[in-house]
Amino acid sequence: MCGIVGYSGSRQATVVILDALKKLEYRGYDSAGVAIVGDDMQVHKDKGEIAVMESTLPDFKGGVGVGHTRWATCGRPSKENAHPFVDCTGRIALVHNGILENYAEIKRKLITEGHRFTSETDTEVLVHLVEKYFHGDLRAALNEALKEVRGSYAIVMVQVGSDKVVATRKENPLVVGLGVDENFIASDVTALLDYTNKIMYVMDEEVVELDPHRVRIFDRDGEEVKRQPEIITWSAEDAQKGGFEHFMLKEIYEQPEAIHNTLLGNVNALESGEFMPNVDFGGIKILACGTSFHAAMVGKYVLEKVAKIPVTVELASEYRYATGAKECPLVILISQSGETADTLAAAREAGRRGCRTLAITNVVGSSITREVGETFYTRAGPEIGVAATKTYTAQLVALYLIAMRIAYAKKTMSTDHLREMRAALIALPQVVRRVLDNASEAEAAAEDLYQARDIFFLGRNINFPVMLEGALKLKEISYIHAEGYAAGELKHGPLALIDSRTPVVAAVIKDHTYDKMMSNVAEVQARDSPVLAIGTEGDQDLPNVVSRVILIPEVPAMFVPFPLSVVLQLLAYYTARRKGCSIDKPKNLAKSVTVE
Ligand code: G6P
Repeated sequence: MCGIVGYSGSRQATVVILDALKKLEYRGYDSAGVAIVGDDMQVHKDKGEIAVMESTLPDFKGGVGVGHTRWATCGRPSKENAHPFVDCTGRIALVHNGILENYAEIKRKLITEGHRFTSETDTEVLVHLVEKYFHGDLRAALNEALKEVRGSYAIVMVQVGSDKVVATRKENPLVVGLGVDENFIASDVTALLDYTNKIMYVMDEEVVELDPHRVRIFDRDGEEVKRQPEIITWSAEDAQKGGFEHFMLKEIYEQPEAIHNTLLGNVNALESGEFMPNVDFGGIKILACGTSFHAAMVGKYVLEKVAKIPVTVELASEYRYATGAKECPLVILISQSGETADTLAAAREAGRRGCRTLAITNVVGSSITREVGETFYTRAGPEIGVAATKTYTAQLVALYLIAMRIAYAKKTMSTDHLREMRAALIALPQVVRRVLDNASEAEAAAEDLYQARDIFFLGRNINFPVMLEGALKLKEISYIHAEGYAAGELKHGPLALIDSRTPVVAAVIKDHTYDKMMSNVAEVQARDSPVLAIGTEGDQDLPNVVSRVILIPEVPAMFVPFPLSVVLQLLAYYTARRKGCSIDKPKNLAKSVTVE
Protein backbone atom coordinates (compact mmCIF):
# COMPACT_ATOMS: atom_id res chain seq x y z
CA MET A 1 0.00 0.00 0.00
CA CYS A 2 1.28 3.47 -0.88
CA GLY A 3 -0.24 6.91 -1.32
CA ILE A 4 -0.10 8.59 -4.72
CA VAL A 5 -1.12 12.04 -5.96
CA GLY A 6 -1.19 13.89 -9.27
CA TYR A 7 -2.01 17.55 -9.91
CA SER A 8 -2.45 19.89 -12.85
CA GLY A 9 -3.64 23.43 -12.24
CA SER A 10 -3.10 27.05 -11.45
CA ARG A 11 -1.36 26.62 -8.06
CA GLN A 12 2.20 25.59 -7.31
CA ALA A 13 1.99 21.81 -7.68
CA THR A 14 4.59 21.21 -4.95
CA VAL A 15 2.41 22.82 -2.30
CA VAL A 16 -0.72 20.91 -3.29
CA ILE A 17 1.08 17.59 -3.64
CA LEU A 18 2.90 17.80 -0.29
CA ASP A 19 -0.31 18.72 1.42
CA ALA A 20 -2.22 15.86 -0.20
CA LEU A 21 0.56 13.36 0.48
CA LYS A 22 0.51 14.15 4.19
CA LYS A 23 -3.15 13.13 4.29
CA LEU A 24 -2.15 9.80 2.75
CA GLU A 25 0.68 9.05 5.14
CA TYR A 26 -1.46 6.37 6.84
CA ARG A 27 -1.03 4.39 3.60
CA GLY A 28 2.74 4.31 3.94
CA TYR A 29 5.53 6.36 5.42
CA ASP A 30 8.92 4.78 4.78
CA SER A 31 9.97 7.10 1.95
CA ALA A 32 8.46 9.86 -0.17
CA GLY A 33 9.04 11.94 -3.26
CA VAL A 34 7.68 14.44 -5.77
CA ALA A 35 8.25 15.21 -9.44
CA ILE A 36 7.27 18.65 -10.76
CA VAL A 37 7.18 19.46 -14.45
CA GLY A 38 9.41 22.41 -15.33
CA ASP A 39 11.80 22.89 -18.25
CA ASP A 40 13.20 19.59 -17.07
CA MET A 41 11.63 17.06 -14.76
CA GLN A 42 12.38 18.25 -11.21
CA VAL A 43 12.54 15.27 -8.87
CA HIS A 44 13.20 15.11 -5.15
CA LYS A 45 12.88 12.09 -2.88
CA ASP A 46 14.17 10.71 0.39
CA LYS A 47 13.93 7.87 2.85
CA GLY A 48 11.66 8.38 5.87
CA GLU A 49 8.46 10.27 6.46
CA ILE A 50 7.25 13.03 4.14
CA ALA A 51 8.60 15.68 6.51
CA VAL A 52 12.14 14.37 5.97
CA MET A 53 11.84 14.72 2.21
CA GLU A 54 10.15 18.11 2.61
CA SER A 55 12.96 19.50 4.79
CA THR A 56 15.41 19.45 1.88
CA LEU A 57 12.95 20.08 -0.94
CA PRO A 58 14.19 22.73 -3.42
CA ASP A 59 11.82 25.48 -4.51
CA PHE A 60 10.44 23.66 -7.58
CA LYS A 61 8.19 25.86 -9.72
CA GLY A 62 5.42 24.43 -11.86
CA GLY A 63 1.74 23.64 -11.93
CA VAL A 64 1.94 19.96 -12.85
CA GLY A 65 3.35 17.08 -10.87
CA VAL A 66 3.08 13.77 -9.05
CA GLY A 67 3.90 12.64 -5.51
CA HIS A 68 4.24 9.42 -3.58
CA THR A 69 4.44 8.20 0.00
CA ARG A 70 5.70 4.64 0.14
CA TRP A 71 5.13 1.46 2.09
CA ALA A 72 7.78 -0.76 0.59
CA THR A 73 6.82 -4.10 -0.96
CA CYS A 74 9.55 -4.63 -3.56
CA GLY A 75 12.95 -3.20 -2.64
CA ARG A 76 13.79 -1.91 0.82
CA PRO A 77 12.92 1.63 1.91
CA SER A 78 15.70 3.89 0.59
CA LYS A 79 16.17 7.08 -1.39
CA GLU A 80 16.95 5.07 -4.54
CA ASN A 81 13.79 2.98 -4.21
CA ALA A 82 11.53 5.96 -3.44
CA HIS A 83 9.12 7.14 -6.16
CA PRO A 84 8.73 8.99 -8.56
CA PHE A 85 10.85 7.21 -11.15
CA VAL A 86 11.97 8.86 -14.36
CA ASP A 87 12.75 7.29 -17.71
CA CYS A 88 16.20 7.34 -19.34
CA THR A 89 15.47 10.67 -21.07
CA GLY A 90 14.41 12.26 -17.78
CA ARG A 91 11.22 13.55 -19.37
CA ILE A 92 8.58 11.18 -17.94
CA ALA A 93 7.96 10.70 -14.20
CA LEU A 94 5.79 7.97 -12.70
CA VAL A 95 4.45 6.88 -9.30
CA HIS A 96 2.88 3.50 -8.57
CA ASN A 97 0.96 1.74 -5.83
CA GLY A 98 0.70 -2.04 -6.18
CA ILE A 99 2.69 -5.09 -7.11
CA LEU A 100 3.99 -6.17 -10.51
CA GLU A 101 4.35 -9.93 -10.67
CA ASN A 102 6.47 -10.27 -13.80
CA TYR A 103 8.73 -7.26 -13.38
CA ALA A 104 11.96 -9.28 -13.19
CA GLU A 105 11.64 -10.70 -16.69
CA ILE A 106 10.56 -7.32 -18.13
CA LYS A 107 13.51 -5.67 -16.41
CA ARG A 108 15.98 -8.17 -17.90
CA LYS A 109 14.60 -7.48 -21.35
CA LEU A 110 14.64 -3.70 -20.95
CA ILE A 111 18.25 -3.80 -19.76
CA THR A 112 19.30 -5.70 -22.88
CA GLU A 113 17.49 -3.02 -24.88
CA GLY A 114 19.70 -0.39 -23.21
CA HIS A 115 17.49 1.01 -20.44
CA ARG A 116 19.30 2.09 -17.29
CA PHE A 117 17.82 1.16 -13.91
CA THR A 118 18.62 2.86 -10.61
CA SER A 119 16.47 0.95 -8.09
CA GLU A 120 15.47 -2.49 -6.82
CA THR A 121 11.76 -1.80 -7.33
CA ASP A 122 9.21 -3.44 -9.59
CA THR A 123 7.80 0.03 -10.39
CA GLU A 124 10.80 1.24 -12.32
CA VAL A 125 10.07 -1.13 -15.21
CA LEU A 126 6.81 0.76 -15.82
CA VAL A 127 8.47 4.08 -16.60
CA HIS A 128 10.94 2.43 -18.97
CA LEU A 129 8.17 0.49 -20.69
CA VAL A 130 6.24 3.72 -21.16
CA GLU A 131 9.42 5.36 -22.51
CA LYS A 132 9.84 2.47 -24.95
CA TYR A 133 6.36 2.96 -26.40
CA PHE A 134 6.29 6.76 -26.19
CA HIS A 135 5.87 8.52 -29.54
CA GLY A 136 4.39 11.79 -28.31
CA ASP A 137 1.22 10.41 -26.68
CA LEU A 138 1.59 9.39 -23.04
CA ARG A 139 -1.80 7.68 -22.83
CA ALA A 140 -1.08 5.54 -25.89
CA ALA A 141 2.32 4.59 -24.46
CA LEU A 142 0.73 3.62 -21.16
CA ASN A 143 -1.80 1.41 -22.93
CA GLU A 144 1.01 -0.40 -24.74
CA ALA A 145 3.05 -0.81 -21.55
CA LEU A 146 0.11 -2.25 -19.65
CA LYS A 147 -0.19 -5.08 -22.18
CA GLU A 148 3.10 -6.44 -20.86
CA VAL A 149 2.64 -6.22 -17.10
CA ARG A 150 0.90 -8.64 -14.80
CA GLY A 151 -0.15 -7.58 -11.31
CA SER A 152 -2.02 -4.87 -9.51
CA TYR A 153 -1.47 -1.15 -9.81
CA ALA A 154 -2.51 2.44 -9.54
CA ILE A 155 -0.20 4.54 -11.70
CA VAL A 156 0.08 8.31 -12.19
CA MET A 157 2.43 9.95 -14.71
CA VAL A 158 3.49 13.36 -15.97
CA GLN A 159 5.68 14.46 -18.83
CA VAL A 160 7.90 17.47 -19.59
CA GLY A 161 6.28 19.85 -22.10
CA SER A 162 2.73 18.84 -21.19
CA ASP A 163 0.17 19.89 -18.60
CA LYS A 164 -1.48 16.47 -18.72
CA VAL A 165 -1.55 13.92 -15.92
CA VAL A 166 -2.18 10.36 -17.11
CA ALA A 167 -3.26 7.61 -14.73
CA THR A 168 -4.76 4.15 -14.49
CA ARG A 169 -5.65 1.53 -11.90
CA LYS A 170 -6.21 -2.17 -11.40
CA GLU A 171 -7.13 -3.50 -7.95
CA ASN A 172 -5.72 -0.39 -6.28
CA PRO A 173 -7.71 2.75 -5.53
CA LEU A 174 -7.68 5.97 -7.51
CA VAL A 175 -10.04 8.94 -7.41
CA VAL A 176 -10.22 12.12 -9.45
CA GLY A 177 -10.94 15.46 -7.78
CA LEU A 178 -12.50 18.24 -9.85
CA GLY A 179 -11.63 21.88 -9.24
CA VAL A 180 -11.81 25.21 -11.03
CA ASP A 181 -8.78 25.65 -13.32
CA GLU A 182 -7.26 22.65 -11.61
CA ASN A 183 -7.80 18.91 -11.35
CA PHE A 184 -6.42 16.27 -9.02
CA ILE A 185 -5.95 12.53 -8.80
CA ALA A 186 -5.07 10.53 -5.68
CA SER A 187 -5.29 7.19 -3.90
CA ASP A 188 -8.33 8.34 -1.97
CA VAL A 189 -10.52 11.32 -1.26
CA THR A 190 -8.73 12.13 2.01
CA ALA A 191 -5.94 13.70 0.03
CA LEU A 192 -8.24 16.03 -1.85
CA LEU A 193 -10.89 17.22 0.59
CA ASP A 194 -9.09 20.49 1.41
CA TYR A 195 -9.38 21.41 -2.27
CA THR A 196 -12.57 19.86 -3.56
CA ASN A 197 -15.40 17.57 -2.61
CA LYS A 198 -16.34 16.87 -6.23
CA ILE A 199 -15.03 13.38 -6.85
CA MET A 200 -15.07 10.80 -9.63
CA TYR A 201 -14.10 7.23 -8.84
CA VAL A 202 -11.88 5.52 -11.38
CA MET A 203 -12.83 1.90 -12.18
CA ASP A 204 -10.48 -1.02 -12.78
CA GLU A 205 -8.45 -0.74 -15.97
CA GLU A 206 -9.77 2.69 -16.89
CA VAL A 207 -7.27 5.30 -18.03
CA VAL A 208 -7.59 8.93 -16.96
CA GLU A 209 -6.16 11.95 -18.71
CA LEU A 210 -6.52 15.29 -16.99
CA ASP A 211 -5.31 18.86 -17.37
CA PRO A 212 -6.40 22.03 -15.54
CA HIS A 213 -9.62 22.31 -17.52
CA ARG A 214 -10.71 18.82 -18.45
CA VAL A 215 -10.84 15.25 -17.15
CA ARG A 216 -11.32 12.42 -19.61
CA ILE A 217 -11.80 8.79 -18.62
CA PHE A 218 -11.37 5.90 -21.08
CA ASP A 219 -12.41 2.28 -20.68
CA ARG A 220 -10.10 -0.64 -21.47
CA ASP A 221 -11.11 -0.50 -25.14
CA GLY A 222 -10.13 3.15 -25.35
CA GLU A 223 -13.75 4.38 -25.49
CA GLU A 224 -14.40 7.57 -23.57
CA VAL A 225 -16.61 7.05 -20.50
CA LYS A 226 -19.04 9.70 -19.23
CA ARG A 227 -19.22 9.84 -15.45
CA GLN A 228 -21.06 12.18 -13.13
CA PRO A 229 -19.05 13.52 -10.20
CA GLU A 230 -20.15 12.67 -6.67
CA ILE A 231 -20.20 15.15 -3.83
CA ILE A 232 -18.38 13.89 -0.73
CA THR A 233 -19.70 15.01 2.62
CA TRP A 234 -17.14 13.24 4.86
CA SER A 235 -14.72 15.19 6.99
CA ALA A 236 -11.02 14.75 6.21
CA GLU A 237 -10.61 12.59 9.33
CA ASP A 238 -13.50 10.29 8.38
CA ALA A 239 -12.12 10.03 4.89
CA GLN A 240 -8.73 8.84 6.14
CA LYS A 241 -10.55 5.95 7.72
CA GLY A 242 -12.33 5.39 4.42
CA GLY A 243 -15.64 6.30 6.03
CA PHE A 244 -15.15 3.70 8.80
CA GLU A 245 -15.47 4.76 12.39
CA HIS A 246 -12.10 3.29 13.37
CA PHE A 247 -8.92 2.17 11.67
CA MET A 248 -9.43 -1.28 13.17
CA LEU A 249 -12.75 -1.73 11.38
CA LYS A 250 -11.29 -0.39 8.15
CA GLU A 251 -8.41 -2.83 8.45
CA ILE A 252 -10.76 -5.72 9.16
CA TYR A 253 -12.48 -4.81 5.89
CA GLU A 254 -9.15 -4.61 4.06
CA GLN A 255 -8.50 -8.31 4.62
CA PRO A 256 -9.72 -9.57 1.24
CA GLU A 257 -7.18 -7.22 -0.36
CA ALA A 258 -4.39 -8.08 2.12
CA ILE A 259 -4.91 -11.80 1.50
CA HIS A 260 -5.08 -11.32 -2.25
CA ASN A 261 -1.88 -9.26 -2.30
CA THR A 262 0.01 -11.74 -0.14
CA LEU A 263 -1.04 -14.55 -2.47
CA LEU A 264 -0.17 -12.55 -5.58
CA GLY A 265 2.84 -13.99 -7.33
CA ASN A 266 3.57 -16.45 -4.52
CA VAL A 267 0.70 -18.78 -5.27
CA ASN A 268 2.01 -19.15 -8.81
CA ALA A 269 5.53 -19.76 -7.53
CA LEU A 270 4.62 -22.73 -5.34
CA GLU A 271 5.96 -25.24 -7.84
CA SER A 272 8.82 -23.22 -9.32
CA GLY A 273 10.26 -22.45 -5.88
CA GLU A 274 10.88 -18.77 -6.48
CA PHE A 275 10.33 -18.30 -2.79
CA MET A 276 12.01 -20.69 -0.40
CA PRO A 277 14.06 -22.54 -3.00
CA ASN A 278 15.69 -24.79 -0.41
CA VAL A 279 13.22 -26.90 1.56
CA ASP A 280 15.74 -29.37 2.84
CA PHE A 281 15.16 -29.49 6.59
CA GLY A 282 13.61 -31.98 8.97
CA GLY A 283 11.95 -29.78 11.57
CA ILE A 284 10.70 -26.26 12.17
CA LYS A 285 10.48 -24.06 15.23
CA ILE A 286 8.31 -20.95 15.08
CA LEU A 287 8.90 -18.04 17.45
CA ALA A 288 6.64 -15.01 17.87
CA CYS A 289 4.71 -12.82 20.32
CA GLY A 290 1.07 -11.87 20.77
CA THR A 291 -1.12 -12.22 17.72
CA SER A 292 1.83 -13.42 15.64
CA PHE A 293 2.26 -16.24 18.16
CA HIS A 294 -1.32 -17.33 17.52
CA ALA A 295 -0.69 -17.26 13.77
CA ALA A 296 2.30 -19.51 14.47
CA MET A 297 0.10 -21.96 16.38
CA VAL A 298 -2.32 -22.20 13.45
CA GLY A 299 0.69 -22.60 11.16
CA LYS A 300 1.86 -25.62 13.15
CA TYR A 301 -1.31 -27.53 12.28
CA VAL A 302 -0.98 -26.67 8.62
CA LEU A 303 2.74 -27.37 8.32
CA GLU A 304 2.46 -30.70 10.08
CA LYS A 305 -0.51 -31.81 8.02
CA VAL A 306 0.55 -30.51 4.63
CA ALA A 307 4.35 -30.53 4.74
CA LYS A 308 4.55 -33.49 7.16
CA ILE A 309 7.25 -31.74 9.16
CA PRO A 310 7.29 -31.66 12.98
CA VAL A 311 6.79 -28.11 14.25
CA THR A 312 7.25 -26.61 17.69
CA VAL A 313 5.95 -23.16 18.53
CA GLU A 314 7.46 -21.07 21.30
CA LEU A 315 6.95 -17.60 22.65
CA ALA A 316 9.86 -15.50 21.46
CA SER A 317 10.36 -14.14 24.97
CA GLU A 318 10.80 -17.68 26.37
CA TYR A 319 13.12 -19.06 23.70
CA ARG A 320 16.31 -17.90 25.41
CA TYR A 321 15.51 -20.00 28.47
CA ALA A 322 15.05 -23.21 26.49
CA THR A 323 18.69 -24.21 26.46
CA GLY A 324 18.46 -28.00 26.70
CA ALA A 325 16.34 -28.81 23.66
CA LYS A 326 17.91 -30.07 20.46
CA GLU A 327 18.07 -27.21 17.99
CA CYS A 328 15.77 -27.06 15.03
CA PRO A 329 17.27 -26.75 11.55
CA LEU A 330 14.80 -24.03 10.51
CA VAL A 331 13.53 -21.30 12.81
CA ILE A 332 10.69 -19.11 11.53
CA LEU A 333 10.20 -15.76 13.26
CA ILE A 334 6.86 -14.01 12.83
CA SER A 335 6.51 -10.31 13.52
CA GLN A 336 4.19 -8.02 11.63
CA SER A 337 6.22 -4.94 12.61
CA GLY A 338 9.59 -6.65 12.41
CA GLU A 339 10.58 -4.53 15.43
CA THR A 340 9.36 -6.51 18.46
CA ALA A 341 12.33 -6.65 20.82
CA ASP A 342 11.60 -10.18 22.09
CA THR A 343 11.33 -11.55 18.56
CA LEU A 344 14.50 -9.75 17.47
CA ALA A 345 16.37 -11.21 20.44
CA ALA A 346 15.03 -14.66 19.57
CA ALA A 347 16.19 -14.24 15.96
CA ARG A 348 19.71 -13.38 17.18
CA GLU A 349 19.69 -16.32 19.55
CA ALA A 350 18.59 -18.72 16.80
CA GLY A 351 21.38 -17.38 14.61
CA ARG A 352 23.90 -17.93 17.42
CA ARG A 353 22.67 -21.48 17.77
CA GLY A 354 23.45 -22.06 14.10
CA CYS A 355 19.86 -22.40 12.85
CA ARG A 356 18.67 -21.34 9.44
CA THR A 357 16.31 -18.40 10.06
CA LEU A 358 13.35 -17.08 8.10
CA ALA A 359 11.24 -14.05 9.05
CA ILE A 360 7.62 -13.42 8.15
CA THR A 361 7.00 -9.68 8.39
CA ASN A 362 4.83 -6.95 6.94
CA VAL A 363 7.50 -4.23 6.94
CA VAL A 364 10.11 -4.30 4.23
CA GLY A 365 13.57 -3.59 5.58
CA SER A 366 12.45 -3.81 9.24
CA SER A 367 15.03 -4.77 11.86
CA ILE A 368 14.15 -8.45 11.82
CA THR A 369 15.05 -8.75 8.14
CA ARG A 370 18.63 -7.88 9.09
CA GLU A 371 18.78 -10.60 11.74
CA VAL A 372 17.65 -13.51 9.55
CA GLY A 373 18.79 -15.38 6.47
CA GLU A 374 15.53 -15.18 4.51
CA THR A 375 12.38 -13.09 4.62
CA PHE A 376 8.84 -13.72 3.46
CA TYR A 377 6.89 -10.49 3.17
CA THR A 378 3.18 -10.30 3.81
CA ARG A 379 1.54 -7.51 1.86
CA ALA A 380 -1.17 -6.24 4.14
CA GLY A 381 -0.20 -2.56 3.89
CA PRO A 382 0.38 -0.47 7.01
CA GLU A 383 -1.78 -1.29 9.99
CA ILE A 384 -2.66 1.68 12.18
CA GLY A 385 -5.01 0.10 14.74
CA VAL A 386 -3.02 -1.35 17.65
CA ALA A 387 -4.98 -4.61 17.54
CA ALA A 388 -3.55 -6.67 14.68
CA THR A 389 -6.17 -7.85 12.19
CA LYS A 390 -5.20 -7.81 8.52
CA THR A 391 -1.54 -8.47 9.28
CA TYR A 392 -2.59 -11.61 11.18
CA THR A 393 -4.61 -13.15 8.36
CA ALA A 394 -1.80 -12.23 5.97
CA GLN A 395 0.62 -14.10 8.27
CA LEU A 396 -1.66 -17.12 8.05
CA VAL A 397 -1.53 -16.89 4.26
CA ALA A 398 2.29 -16.83 4.42
CA LEU A 399 2.37 -19.94 6.59
CA TYR A 400 -0.08 -21.82 4.34
CA LEU A 401 2.03 -20.87 1.33
CA ILE A 402 5.23 -22.07 3.00
CA ALA A 403 3.56 -25.36 3.96
CA MET A 404 2.34 -25.85 0.41
CA ARG A 405 5.69 -24.87 -1.05
CA ILE A 406 7.32 -27.64 1.01
CA ALA A 407 4.57 -30.06 0.01
CA TYR A 408 5.10 -29.34 -3.69
CA ALA A 409 8.85 -29.75 -3.39
CA LYS A 410 8.82 -32.83 -1.18
CA LYS A 411 5.67 -34.37 -2.64
CA THR A 412 4.14 -34.86 0.79
CA MET A 413 0.66 -34.52 -0.67
CA SER A 414 -1.00 -35.69 -3.85
CA THR A 415 -1.18 -33.17 -6.69
CA ASP A 416 -4.98 -33.38 -6.59
CA HIS A 417 -5.02 -32.47 -2.96
CA LEU A 418 -2.57 -29.59 -3.50
CA ARG A 419 -4.69 -28.34 -6.37
CA GLU A 420 -7.71 -28.28 -4.07
CA MET A 421 -5.75 -26.37 -1.43
CA ARG A 422 -4.58 -23.89 -4.01
CA ALA A 423 -8.16 -23.29 -5.13
CA ALA A 424 -9.21 -22.83 -1.49
CA LEU A 425 -6.46 -20.26 -0.99
CA ILE A 426 -7.43 -18.31 -4.07
CA ALA A 427 -11.07 -18.31 -2.94
CA LEU A 428 -10.24 -16.82 0.48
CA PRO A 429 -10.77 -13.13 -0.37
CA GLN A 430 -14.28 -14.00 -1.52
CA VAL A 431 -14.95 -16.09 1.60
CA VAL A 432 -13.82 -13.23 3.84
CA ARG A 433 -15.97 -10.78 1.88
CA ARG A 434 -19.01 -12.95 2.62
CA VAL A 435 -18.21 -12.91 6.34
CA LEU A 436 -17.90 -9.12 6.21
CA ASP A 437 -21.27 -8.86 4.51
CA ASN A 438 -22.71 -10.46 7.65
CA ALA A 439 -21.00 -8.11 10.10
CA SER A 440 -24.36 -7.04 11.52
CA GLU A 441 -24.67 -10.47 13.17
CA ALA A 442 -21.46 -9.91 15.12
CA GLU A 443 -22.72 -6.46 16.03
CA ALA A 444 -25.93 -7.98 17.39
CA ALA A 445 -24.02 -10.69 19.27
CA ALA A 446 -21.91 -8.01 20.95
CA GLU A 447 -25.07 -6.98 22.79
CA ASP A 448 -24.91 -10.28 24.68
CA LEU A 449 -21.26 -9.87 25.57
CA TYR A 450 -20.46 -6.28 26.38
CA GLN A 451 -21.55 -6.39 30.01
CA ALA A 452 -19.74 -9.62 30.85
CA ARG A 453 -16.76 -9.66 33.17
CA ASP A 454 -15.34 -12.95 31.90
CA ILE A 455 -15.80 -14.76 28.60
CA PHE A 456 -14.42 -18.12 27.48
CA PHE A 457 -13.55 -18.91 23.88
CA LEU A 458 -13.57 -22.61 23.05
CA GLY A 459 -12.31 -24.50 20.02
CA ARG A 460 -10.59 -27.68 19.00
CA ASN A 461 -7.82 -28.67 16.65
CA ILE A 462 -6.79 -25.91 14.24
CA ASN A 463 -9.54 -23.67 15.61
CA PHE A 464 -8.18 -23.79 19.15
CA PRO A 465 -5.46 -21.19 18.47
CA VAL A 466 -7.99 -19.17 16.49
CA MET A 467 -10.09 -18.95 19.66
CA LEU A 468 -6.98 -17.94 21.64
CA GLU A 469 -6.61 -15.08 19.19
CA GLY A 470 -10.33 -14.25 19.46
CA ALA A 471 -9.95 -13.96 23.24
CA LEU A 472 -6.82 -11.82 22.89
CA LYS A 473 -8.56 -9.45 20.47
CA LEU A 474 -11.48 -9.05 22.87
CA LYS A 475 -9.37 -8.40 25.95
CA GLU A 476 -7.05 -6.01 24.10
CA ILE A 477 -9.75 -3.62 22.99
CA SER A 478 -12.80 -4.20 25.23
CA TYR A 479 -10.91 -4.82 28.50
CA ILE A 480 -13.14 -7.81 29.23
CA HIS A 481 -11.28 -10.73 30.73
CA ALA A 482 -11.35 -13.39 28.02
CA GLU A 483 -9.65 -16.75 27.87
CA GLY A 484 -9.19 -19.06 24.96
CA TYR A 485 -9.32 -22.73 25.83
CA ALA A 486 -8.99 -26.02 24.06
CA ALA A 487 -12.55 -27.24 24.53
CA GLY A 488 -11.42 -30.64 25.80
CA GLU A 489 -9.47 -28.98 28.60
CA LEU A 490 -12.48 -27.15 29.98
CA LYS A 491 -13.46 -29.95 32.33
CA HIS A 492 -9.98 -29.89 33.87
CA GLY A 493 -10.49 -26.63 35.68
CA PRO A 494 -12.25 -23.70 34.07
CA LEU A 495 -15.66 -25.38 34.19
CA ALA A 496 -15.66 -24.33 37.84
CA LEU A 497 -15.92 -20.70 36.66
CA ILE A 498 -18.83 -21.17 34.28
CA ASP A 499 -22.20 -19.76 35.31
CA SER A 500 -25.04 -17.66 33.89
CA ARG A 501 -22.84 -14.55 33.95
CA THR A 502 -20.02 -16.16 31.99
CA PRO A 503 -20.73 -16.27 28.26
CA VAL A 504 -18.96 -18.85 26.13
CA VAL A 505 -18.03 -18.33 22.48
CA ALA A 506 -17.62 -21.73 20.82
CA ALA A 507 -16.39 -22.72 17.35
CA VAL A 508 -18.79 -25.52 16.42
CA ILE A 509 -17.67 -26.14 12.87
CA LYS A 510 -18.96 -28.98 10.67
CA ASP A 511 -15.79 -31.05 10.70
CA HIS A 512 -14.43 -33.99 12.67
CA THR A 513 -14.60 -31.98 15.91
CA TYR A 514 -18.30 -31.19 15.55
CA ASP A 515 -19.79 -33.82 17.87
CA LYS A 516 -17.29 -33.19 20.61
CA MET A 517 -17.84 -29.44 20.39
CA MET A 518 -21.61 -30.02 20.62
CA SER A 519 -20.97 -31.94 23.86
CA ASN A 520 -18.86 -29.10 25.20
CA VAL A 521 -21.64 -26.65 24.40
CA ALA A 522 -24.09 -28.86 26.31
CA GLU A 523 -21.61 -29.01 29.19
CA VAL A 524 -21.49 -25.22 29.63
CA GLN A 525 -25.19 -24.78 28.97
CA ALA A 526 -25.87 -27.17 31.84
CA ARG A 527 -24.09 -24.52 33.99
CA ASP A 528 -26.42 -21.83 32.53
CA SER A 529 -23.76 -20.16 30.40
CA PRO A 530 -25.16 -18.16 27.47
CA VAL A 531 -23.48 -19.60 24.39
CA LEU A 532 -22.59 -17.84 21.16
CA ALA A 533 -21.75 -20.57 18.66
CA ILE A 534 -19.94 -19.97 15.42
CA GLY A 535 -20.95 -22.70 13.02
CA THR A 536 -21.05 -23.66 9.38
CA GLU A 537 -23.66 -22.44 6.89
CA GLY A 538 -26.25 -25.11 6.29
CA ASP A 539 -26.06 -26.53 9.83
CA GLN A 540 -29.70 -27.09 10.79
CA ASP A 541 -29.08 -28.37 14.31
CA LEU A 542 -26.82 -25.80 15.90
CA PRO A 543 -29.31 -22.87 15.75
CA ASN A 544 -31.81 -24.98 17.72
CA VAL A 545 -29.35 -25.70 20.49
CA VAL A 546 -27.78 -22.36 21.35
CA SER A 547 -29.14 -18.92 22.17
CA ARG A 548 -27.17 -17.21 19.43
CA VAL A 549 -25.36 -18.48 16.38
CA ILE A 550 -23.30 -16.94 13.61
CA LEU A 551 -22.80 -19.13 10.56
CA ILE A 552 -19.73 -18.84 8.36
CA PRO A 553 -19.25 -20.05 4.76
CA GLU A 554 -18.33 -23.70 4.36
CA VAL A 555 -14.66 -24.10 3.44
CA PRO A 556 -12.26 -27.07 3.74
CA ALA A 557 -11.55 -27.66 7.45
CA MET A 558 -8.00 -26.36 7.21
CA PHE A 559 -9.21 -22.99 5.92
CA VAL A 560 -11.79 -22.31 8.63
CA PRO A 561 -9.31 -20.11 10.58
CA PHE A 562 -9.83 -17.36 7.98
CA PRO A 563 -13.60 -16.82 8.18
CA LEU A 564 -13.60 -17.71 11.88
CA SER A 565 -10.90 -15.16 12.73
CA VAL A 566 -12.77 -12.43 10.89
CA VAL A 567 -15.98 -13.11 12.85
CA LEU A 568 -14.02 -12.96 16.10
CA GLN A 569 -12.35 -9.69 15.10
CA LEU A 570 -15.77 -8.19 14.36
CA LEU A 571 -17.09 -9.50 17.65
CA ALA A 572 -14.23 -7.90 19.59
CA TYR A 573 -14.66 -4.68 17.65
CA TYR A 574 -18.40 -4.32 18.19
CA THR A 575 -18.17 -5.34 21.85
CA ALA A 576 -15.51 -2.68 22.47
CA ARG A 577 -17.52 -0.12 20.54
CA ARG A 578 -20.64 -0.93 22.58
CA LYS A 579 -18.58 -0.27 25.70
CA GLY A 580 -17.27 2.98 24.27
CA CYS A 581 -13.61 1.94 24.45
CA SER A 582 -10.70 3.60 22.69
CA ILE A 583 -10.51 1.01 19.96
CA ASP A 584 -7.56 2.09 17.85
CA LYS A 585 -5.40 2.94 20.86
CA PRO A 586 -6.21 0.62 23.76
CA LYS A 587 -4.84 1.63 27.15
CA ASN A 588 -1.39 0.34 28.13
CA LEU A 589 -0.74 -1.23 24.73
CA ALA A 590 1.54 -0.26 21.86
CA LYS A 591 1.58 -1.29 18.24
CA SER A 592 5.15 -2.45 18.38
CA VAL A 593 6.87 -3.24 21.63
CA THR A 594 10.55 -2.45 21.41
CA VAL A 595 11.48 -3.35 24.99
CA GLU A 596 12.08 -6.89 26.24
C1 G6P B 1 2.30 -5.96 20.50
C2 G6P B 1 0.99 -5.66 19.79
C3 G6P B 1 0.31 -6.96 19.39
C4 G6P B 1 1.25 -7.80 18.55
C5 G6P B 1 2.58 -8.06 19.27
C6 G6P B 1 3.60 -8.68 18.36
O1 G6P B 1 2.03 -6.53 21.74
O2 G6P B 1 0.13 -4.90 20.63
O3 G6P B 1 -0.85 -6.67 18.62
O4 G6P B 1 0.65 -9.01 18.22
O5 G6P B 1 3.13 -6.82 19.73
O6 G6P B 1 3.89 -7.76 17.35
P1 G6P B 1 4.67 -8.12 16.03
O7 G6P B 1 4.86 -6.81 15.35
O8 G6P B 1 5.96 -8.74 16.45
O9 G6P B 1 3.84 -9.07 15.25
